[in-house]
Amino acid sequence: MAHRGSFGSKIGVVLAAAGSAVGLGNVWRFPTEVGNNGGAAFILIYLACVLFIGIPVMVSEFVIGRSTHANTIGAFRKLAPKTWWRIGGIEGVFVAFFIFCYYIIVSGWTLHYTVASFANHLTADQDYKVYFQDFVTSPWEPVVYAVVFMLMVHVIIVRGVQNGIERCSKLMMPMLLLIIAVLVICSFSMSGFTEGMSFMLRPDFSKVTTTVVLSAVGQAFYSLSLAMGCLCTYASYFGPDTNLTKTAMSVSLIDTCVAVLCGFIIFPAVFSVPGVEPGEGPGLVFITLPHVFNIAFHNVPLIGYVFSGLFYLLLLLSALTSAISLHEPVTAYLHEEWHLSRHRAACLVTLGCILLGVACSLSMGVWNDFRIFGLCLFDLFDFVSAKIILPLGGIIICLFVGWKLDRQLVYDEVTNRGALRIRFFRLYLFLVRWVAPIAIALIFINELLNS
Ligand code: PHE
Repeated sequence: MAHRGSFGSKIGVVLAAAGSAVGLGNVWRFPTEVGNNGGAAFILIYLACVLFIGIPVMVSEFVIGRSTHANTIGAFRKLAPKTWWRIGGIEGVFVAFFIFCYYIIVSGWTLHYTVASFANHLTADQDYKVYFQDFVTSPWEPVVYAVVFMLMVHVIIVRGVQNGIERCSKLMMPMLLLIIAVLVICSFSMSGFTEGMSFMLRPDFSKVTTTVVLSAVGQAFYSLSLAMGCLCTYASYFGPDTNLTKTAMSVSLIDTCVAVLCGFIIFPAVFSVPGVEPGEGPGLVFITLPHVFNIAFHNVPLIGYVFSGLFYLLLLLSALTSAISLHEPVTAYLHEEWHLSRHRAACLVTLGCILLGVACSLSMGVWNDFRIFGLCLFDLFDFVSAKIILPLGGIIICLFVGWKLDRQLVYDEVTNRGALRIRFFRLYLFLVRWVAPIAIALIFINELLNS
């Protein structure tokens, strides 16, 4: 068998996995969820979800990947040959591919806004709603940016695990953290700091309903990049002495801190401008924020220019490190199972994603009339992959590691063959066997009923 890549250092392992976890979900989704769902009360529930569901599922993915040193489909095949469990691996690779197809489109938007911001095109006289609409519905502009973004990802992937993924994570993650630190410090001086903080952090337990709890579980899953074959594939490149539990905890800690700090950046800015409501998702970052940055810093436009440029660069970096982790499971699969060279495999994935990605992008503009079950292609990809296949994959991973895998194998992986003392092994097994699959099944049913 061809020589497999591997990560070269512990810090490389943590930064690569954290790079996958820290993404657009941290910057725009988490803060809004917190603000709308009871502030600090939501943060507490989210922390419990990360601790009792997110970390155990992440460790389970690590166990599958590291024990086999194979791509996700190969890993399930090795551990449970000729059984239905293989669906778990197929799910991981497919969902990564489909999510990737539309993730690159939104990532292309972040590239456009970074360029526009540094080129000083995001000026006060724009109507940002029209600006954003014109951009996303244009037949070629978002496509060009998505293709450029994709080529950036491609170049990193073809360089391999250590020279590509690890090296760029070691470069980009510290840059990302530094930008966050600078932006948080800047936001302390904003007039809306106190109001913004209290919008985000005031605990309001009356808002906590079952749906809020379930959306916290969903957010934890998405934000930690679980059940997409990404962390399982990365774990297949871990060395024998990587401490799986500690790595999962570090990644979750970094991911959660980044999410909270992004709220510290966004809300003080939004509340510094009277009459602006904190919106949600793409509307918040691409329509509300450019406007807010202009007005909040109208006295010192230079700071506004730097602040907005750095903010979009932060978004771009977080999208890039996540996108790499979505490309890798598919590339590794084609490389190892179809015996293509890594270079060829990567080219196929890049090409396939560009084609489907372009179709997704056009579905928001000129092809908007083409609908399946009433959804345009972009929304359909999002719905099927994130709402249906993803939770099912999560359940399969838990049941597989909790019930099917040999308990000794799981113990050996978690403790590095007895070298580490892990006090919570029984608790871990209980969580993966019962708590996590039941919680995921509940989100799944809830999402289906609500859609
Ligand atoms: N975790 C990423 C985010 O928070 C999303 C993602 C999921 C990226 C899976 C890669 C793989 O945005």
